[in-house]
Amino acid sequence: MIIIDLEEKYKRPYFMCLEEWSDEMKEAGDHKENWYNKMKDKGLGVKIAVTEDDKVVGMIQYVPIEHSTAEGKNLYIIKCIWVHGYDEGVGNFQKKGIGKRLIKAAEEDVRSKGAKGLVAWGLSIPVFMKASWFKKQGYVKVDKLNVSVLLWKPFSDDAIAPKWIKQRKKPEKIPGKVSVTSFINGWCPAQNIVFERAKRASSEFGDKVVFIEINTFSRETFLEWGICDALFIDGKNVRTGPPPSYEKIKKKIAQKVKKLK
Ligand SMILES: CC(C)(COP(=O)(O)OP(=O)(O)OC[C@H]1O[C@@H](n2cnc3c(N)ncnc32)[C@H](O)[C@@H]1OP(=O)(O)O)[C@@H](O)C(=O)NCCC(=O)NCCS
Repeated sequence: MIIIDLEEKYKRPYFMCLEEWSDEMKEAGDHKENWYNKMKDKGLGVKIAVTEDDKVVGMIQYVPIEHSTAEGKNLYIIKCIWVHGYDEGVGNFQKKGIGKRLIKAAEEDVRSKGAKGLVAWGLSIPVFMKASWFKKQGYVKVDKLNVSVLLWKPFSDDAIAPKWIKQRKKPEKIPGKVSVTSFINGWCPAQNIVFERAKRASSEFGDKVVFIEINTFSRETFLEWGICDALFIDGKNVRTGPPPSYEKIKKKIAQKVKKLK
């Protein structure tokens, strides 16, 4: 097992969260690849874990904090870390020390770039990317927004703790129509799936439904809303982690369409 920087030949599994076996992933479009192509010149770091028989079984991606949903200075933030945990595809590689090696490699990299610390985020509930795992790796909680915990590992005494950027406004209803507003940044294939499903479902209702795409890759747009990836139907937030099915999104829109006069 080696931990290396992302190379050309491993880009496809990286763009698909190492889940090339998944039909759901095929719904994610090319947003991640487009995001990568823009971010690779803005300080994005990607480390991957590759087995001796050339399988990509883990990844970590991190960016300067200015390109994230938190505010801070001279810090990098881990967008996500993922050690493949399903039986399908390359199989389950969790709990073999790979996550630990990936985060160490990221720490060394950002230290060498002169960062004053590495920031991570995780959930306070025991699902998905857990805050508890980062605590175990020496990260300390500095902020919390609902179940999203922000943690960090400062490298120097003069490092300043980061904070979450909070939501600043929400989409409005459109009189006489159902509005479906989808915020997309591109970095997360799961969220890109939600965007694609919402767009497709909206198109099934003709002019009764207005689909609004808000691309938050632009920093200005993100800061205007304080929202990175999200789905709103008639101004109401729909939970998107894990991605709701196409049918579920369509049903939610249909319920609103039914109520139109
Ligand atoms: C979190 C994750 C990266 C950890 O990687 P891993 O390779 O399974 O973990 P490791 O084997 O390196 O574990 C290192 C240590 O953390 C411990 N640990 C594992 N899971 C833990 C948890 N949920 N809480 C606390 N400690 C945990 C291990 O016991 C091990 O302890 P040790 O150092 O005393 O031996 C991995 O489990 C994962 O990908 N989980 C899903 C995260 C996810 O959904 N990512 C996508 C987000 S976009």
